[in-house]
Amino acid sequence: MRVPHPIPYQGSKRTLARSIVACFPAGVERVIEPFAGSAAVSLAAAQCSAAQHFVLNDANAPLMQLWHEIVERPQDLARRYEQMWLEQQGRERDYYEAVRADFNQDHAAHDLLYLLARCVKAAVRYNTSGAFNQSPDHRRKGTHPHRMAQQILAASRLLKDRVTLTALDYRELLPQATPRDLVYLDPPYQGVCGQRDPRYIQGVTFDAFVQILHDLNNREISYIVSYDGRTGGKSFGRPLPECLHLIQLEIDAGRSSQATLLGRASRTVESLYLSPALCRQIDLEHIIINHGFAGPTGTLANIRG
Ligand SMILES: C[S@@+](CC[C@H](N)C(=O)[O-])C[C@H]1O[C@@H](n2cnc3c(N)ncnc32)[C@H](O)[C@@H]1O
Repeated sequence: MRVPHPIPYQGSKRTLARSIVACFPAGVERVIEPFAGSAAVSLAAAQCSAAQHFVLNDANAPLMQLWHEIVERPQDLARRYEQMWLEQQGRERDYYEAVRADFNQDHAAHDLLYLLARCVKAAVRYNTSGAFNQSPDHRRKGTHPHRMAQQILAASRLLKDRVTLTALDYRELLPQATPRDLVYLDPPYQGVCGQRDPRYIQGVTFDAFVQILHDLNNREISYIVSYDGRTGGKSFGRPLPECLHLIQLEIDAGRSSQATLLGRASRTVESLYLSPALCRQIDLEHIIINHGFAGPTGTLANIRG
């Protein structure tokens, strides 16, 4: 069965979600996603019953309001989306601009869903005053309402009565984590951390993030971090310090769209970092061999040795 994915979202871990869930230990009580976005990993984990409960959090409050509508009022949201999608026909450009202006006034969840379905690269962008300013993609009319309704209803069925939704800074969320939870952290990409990032309402600084990982280690929390990666020979992201004792795995994330545009065949490889407490609970060698991971050179030898 396909995992539902109701929110189109740049940076979604949709294609890697099953591999990430393969690293979960047995008997996870809660998955905590402090940087939930489209929550691709929690949805995949719910689909294969890899956890009982889910805590989804994102600093983007309208996005979390959209999650609330998806889970609690899926029929209403699907109807609203269909109505908007039909109303736009023949005047897509003006309609998008009107919805964007409305959204910047009252932050309604259905407006955000429509904007994400129609905007360039499904990418949120905000100006310095916090207004959503992403342009429409004139080649896309947005997900067909029939398909959108299927995605919304399926996501609601998976998460209803099993999810807690919050819109906090990630640091406020993590004190509640316990050793029976699995924390999945997918912070905004490095290179933009620490500066104002037009993609997000809030950001993450490297030092604060590393401090949080140290704290999670001290509390024996199992966590997985999606952090950096490489395309062809080019790596991006400042390395996480060795004193965190994380195990780095790499997954092939497919052909990079930039490389495809340039006519090159480079593939993007994304890193996952597994915490010491997690590695003590799982058979890492089995996971690497059976779930298509490449350890950076020497990973298997390090685990065995
Ligand atoms: C790379 S995206 C996560 C994508 C997600 N894994 C998915 O599958 O869609 C990073 C998310 O972190 C959120 N974010 C940025 N700064 C944050 C902060 N300080 N606290 C919590 N969330 C934050 C952004 O709004 C964004 O949705």
